[in-house]
Amino acid sequence: RSTLCLKPRPPVVTVMGHVDHGKTTLLDWLRKTSVAEREAGGITQHIGAFSVQLSTGERLTFLDTPGHAAFSSMRARGASLTDIAVLVVAGDDGVMVQTRECVDLVRSAGVPLVVAINKCDKPGAEPVSLPALLHSLGSLLQPCVPYNEKERVEEELLQCGVQLERFGGDVQSVRISAVTGRGVPQLEEALLAEAELNAVMGDPSGPVEAVVIESHVDRGLGPVASVVVRHGTLECGAVLVAGRTWGKVRAMFDERRKPMREAPPSTPVLTVGWRDLPTSGDNCLQADSESAARSMVQHRASTPARLSGVRENRES
Ligand code: GTP
Ligand code: NA
Ligand code: MG
Repeated sequence: RSTLCLKPRPPVVTVMGHVDHGKTTLLDWLRKTSVAEREAGGITQHIGAFSVQLSTGERLTFLDTPGHAAFSSMRARGASLTDIAVLVVAGDDGVMVQTRECVDLVRSAGVPLVVAINKCDKPGAEPVSLPALLHSLGSLLQPCVPYNEKERVEEELLQCGVQLERFGGDVQSVRISAVTGRGVPQLEEALLAEAELNAVMGDPSGPVEAVVIESHVDRGLGPVASVVVRHGTLECGAVLVAGRTWGKVRAMFDERRKPMREAPPSTPVLTVGWRDLPTSGDNCLQADSESAARSMVQHRASTPARLSGVRENRES
């Protein structure tokens, strides 16, 4: 691809973290408070990837990671999809096994990280230590006492090598509640700052390249796949090949099941018209014609997976 065609595109933000630390709840909150969502009014159809327009006008594409499937396959592909990772850590639970795994994944992929310390509405999420108690007593008497205690979760993050900004590193951390929305505007600001530091570009012209987020058989529509476009602009009628299946896109929807006409880079889109279910994490390439797609798939089916570029092991 010619680098001359690169244009700024919304960053793709992958939300990661230990089980039940509040990733999906945070995404629900973000969707509800987004301008787009207010316009549509109501709860959206969840496809694991969606676009949010912030009050400042900027767009971000968010990916949920249930069970890490999406991110593991992304790592295998050199983190081709994720521009920024949000690590969600429940403040009352702290850094757990999967939190550490996520830190390692993000590191090895070289993806910039923003930490969201969640559930700060819960008692126990905020540190209640003796010094903290003394501090609150002190601040009753003298409200401006400087106070620099490092909180427990931040300590644990430092221990697994996350260099938080507030302690001299370069990783931003924000305390939030995905239930009350507290701190979420600050998290959005942190993401925009990170996006500015790491200018993300895509080429809206030329053949489409996309990544499959998930797929399922819809009763009415047949096999459908939500994909995030990397390059090119996806339109109805495009022929896509993913792994060992292909499809001619006959309808496209956003995450609210609103029909879409075109999907430029970073856009999540539900595609209809697949022959079979593509696998999440698979790359999608545009073919010139249905017969070209058919022969690409036949070729892949008759070639050992490693040679044809079809992923053998979803987890590595
Ligand atoms: P997995 O996808 O299974 O890894 O979980 P998850 O990280 O998506 O967590 P999920 O959003 O499903 O939240 C798990 C539980 O924590 C739910 O009962 C949420 O209501 C609750 N929860 C999430 N965020 C908060 C929060 O900020 N405050 C409180 N009090 N509860 C929260
Ligand atoms: Na959960
Ligand atoms: Mg979840």
